Parts: sequence; C-alpha cells; structure tokens
Amino acid sequence: MAPAELDLPEQAPAWFASLERHAPLWRARVERALERWLPGEAIHPARLHRAMRYAMLGGGKRIRPLLVYATAQAVGVSAAGVDGCACAVELIHGYSLVHDDLPAMDDDDLRRGRPTCHRAFDEATAILAGDALQALAFYVLAHDPDLQAGEGVRTRMIAELALAAGSRGMAGGQAIDLAAQGRELDLAQLEDMHIHKTGALIRAAVRLAAQAASDLDPDRFSRLDRYAKCVGLAFQIRDDILDVTGDTRTLGKRAGADAARDKPTYPALLGLEGARERARELLLEALEALAPWGGEADPLRGLACHAVARNA
Ligand code: IPE
Ligand code: IPE
Ligand code: MG
Ligand code: MG
Ligand code: MG
Repeated sequence: MAPAELDLPEQAPAWFASLERHAPLWRARVERALERWLPGEAIHPARLHRAMRYAMLGGGKRIRPLLVYATAQAVGVSAAGVDGCACAVELIHGYSLVHDDLPAMDDDDLRRGRPTCHRAFDEATAILAGDALQALAFYVLAHDPDLQAGEGVRTRMIAELALAAGSRGMAGGQAIDLAAQGRELDLAQLEDMHIHKTGALIRAAVRLAAQAASDLDPDRFSRLDRYAKCVGLAFQIRDDILDVTGDTRTLGKRAGADAARDKPTYPALLGLEGARERARELLLEALEALAPWGGEADPLRGLACHAVARNA
C-alpha cells in the first residue's frame, strides 16, 4: 500500500493490517446505511432520486466513514452507535463532490471512474441532487434511532456538521479555492484554503465519533481533534500531489486538472518534494497526538499513513 516515495514509520505495515481487518466491515456498514436512508429510484421525483443514488453509491474510498468508525473504536463506542455519523458525513462529502465537479466550479467530466453527476444527468439535476444530499445528511443525524447520543449530544453533532459544511468550513473553502484560481497564494493562505475545503469535514468525522463517547477525557478529545486537523490537511496535500503524479485511470478522476485550471496547490508552491515533506510532518504530528492510545487506535494510525501515502 505504501509507495517507496514516502518514508513511513516502521510500524506502518502493522497499522495498515489493522485497518484492513476492519475496513471491509466498516465500508459495508456505511453502504448499508446509505442504502437505507437514500430514497429508492422509483420514488417520486424519480430522476432526482436516481441522481442522488448515482452520486452516493458509485464507489469512493469512504475515508470519512472509516475515520468515524476508527475513532469510535478508539473511544470505546460501538459501530452501530455511529452509523448515522458515518452516513451523514459521507452524504455531505458526496454532495460536495457533485457541486465541485459542476461547470461553474471545477468543470470535471469524470468522478470515481464514471461520468460526473451533471454529465450522467444534467446540471440542474446535479445541483438539486447536491442540495438534497446535504439536507438528507442532517435528517439522518436528527433521526437515526441507533445514534449513540445522550441528551443534547445529537444537537451538538448537528451543529458541528453544519459548521464543517458551511461558510466557515467546506463551502467557505470552496469559495476561497475559486477566488484563488489563477492567483498565487502564500503557504499560509494555501493552508487556510485546504483546512477549510477538505480539513473541516475530515475533522468533523472524528469529532462526531468522539462526541458519541459520553465520558471521554477532554485531553483525549483535543488529541483526537489535533490528529484530525493534521490528517485533513495532509489528505488534501496528497490529493494535490496525485493530481500531478497520478494517472486518470487509477484516480478515477482527470489527472492534471489542477494545473490545467491554474489552481494554487501544494506542489505548485513547494514542489513535489516540499509537498511530501509537509505531508510527512503532518503525519508525524497526527501519530504523536495518538500517543496515549494502544492498539485500539491502530486503524486511526493506518488511516493517517494512508492519507499521505495513498495512490488513489
Ligand atoms: C476527493 O475526496 C476530494 C477531496 C476532498 C480531496 P476523496 O479522495 O475522499 O474522494 P472519494 O470519496 O474517495 O471519491
Ligand atoms: C475538493 O477539492 C474539495 C471539496 C470540498 C469537494 P478538489 O477539487 O481538489 O477535489 P477533486 O480533486 O476534484 O476530487
Ligand atoms: Mg475543487
Ligand atoms: Mg475538483
Ligand atoms: Mg483535487
């Protein structure tokens, strides 16, 4: 799994093995939850429901749900108790990709190895599918009967996800991204953009699952938060690197799209080596944040390594 280009800690193979033992089960859980909450294809208005299902059930690595389940394991919460969080976070992510690909934004034709939603359907349907997926995410958090959330916690989770998705989170990051096209950003500005557009939702995935643990020590909560901040930023740095070094078939989306659109990216600013170095720094900080945990956090450690070493 780990390419030679990045020097991972020597325990990384054991962490990957731990992640790989759990990941198929966790992926199956979130697929089932999505299947359960998304309206059926035949339900009126059928074209909109088909577009929503097309966007959500057509692959994807499901990294954010994996972060939800891996965090739940680290804090002693059952997987069933956070299915709603995993599903809600992935619905926001799926919506963000549908809108990110629109002609008014990145104007991409390929996503997860298939035509983008607006290509498979039409632009108006893709806009509405994104809107409806976002609304469904909050419906799931509000109504999942199995969510492990005592008095007040469910409301806090809804507020947390709303902040991460909104103008001070992902949507804000996308606005910064579009405004920065064709301009040079300095490192602080680039980092700010990435922390918003990708970091916020990844951070929310971890924070939601941590909030499901009613008796979690505040120091442990802030350590998980620090882990999530580092992984979120590193994940987008790797995405930028793969846009340069990856190929369209492996990525399932068009390689070279950032340079073609003159997007400010980590490799554009720091070079590939500099970008990898920054990702590695963030990996080490993420791992350090998990120091008080034992083997129960190995899937989280595996996910941090995956974020910086993945090939797709
Ligand atoms: C792509 O996210 C967009 C970014 C925020 C970098 P992913 O790489 O998680 O996309 P999928 O869900 O696996 O398709
Ligand atoms: C997307 O960043 C971040 C989102 C909030 C969707 P990118 O535009 O780099 O994602 P890809 O490369 O199209 O997946
Ligand atoms: Mg984009
Ligand atoms: Mg894009
Ligand atoms: Mg990208």
